[in-house]
Amino acid sequence: MIQKILVAVDGSAYSLRAALLGAKILHPNPSGILTLLHIAKPQSPMEWFQGAGSDIQGAPDKERQALERALAEGHKILKETEEALSTTKTGETFKTEKLVVPGEPAAKIVETAEAKGSELIIMGCRGLGGIRKVLLGSVSEKVLSLSRCPVLVVK
Ligand SMILES: Nc1ncnc2c1ncn2[C@@H]1O[C@H](COP(=O)(O)OP(=O)(O)OP(=O)(O)O)[C@@H](O)[C@H]1O
Ligand SMILES: [Mg+2]
Repeated sequence: MIQKILVAVDGSAYSLRAALLGAKILHPNPSGILTLLHIAKPQSPMEWFQGAGSDIQGAPDKERQALERALAEGHKILKETEEALSTTKTGETFKTEKLVVPGEPAAKIVETAEAKGSELIIMGCRGLGGIRKVLLGSVSEKVLSLSRCPVLVVK
């Protein structure tokens, strides 16, 4: 039985469907853990910004604020996703944890899944990017290529 599922959440309808599917797969499993993961990547390019190793305190004010905004937005997105999950009947029987990590989305999703020993990554085929013609967004494509654990891509 699968115990540890990591869902990559960017706030899109696809990632919400990914979270709902994760809940469906784990239910009912009191020892199951559903990790909702958002990777916070600030809009503007930042020279100092190297992902989790960055010294946020040492960054220039503007850049630090941009990262702090991205982190805060990530917490908001995860809270909304968790709330949407809790309105379904599957919400009660497994543990949900929320995690916001700064960095490059695809690399950090794969790294976090490995660090947590996730057995399955669930994500959307596309996200907030909004180009409908492509089958896969750049983050899902990179995760599929980098991940050593199974990836379930939700349409
Ligand atoms: N910052 C992020 N944090 C966590 N998961 C993410 C993040 N960005 C994307 N994802 C995951 O990847 C899935 C696909 O999104 P992706 O970003 O690849 O497509 P897109 O936004 O349509 O295209 P692109 O970003 O390449 O313009 C999302 O549904 C979500 O599961
Ligand atoms: Mg995207």
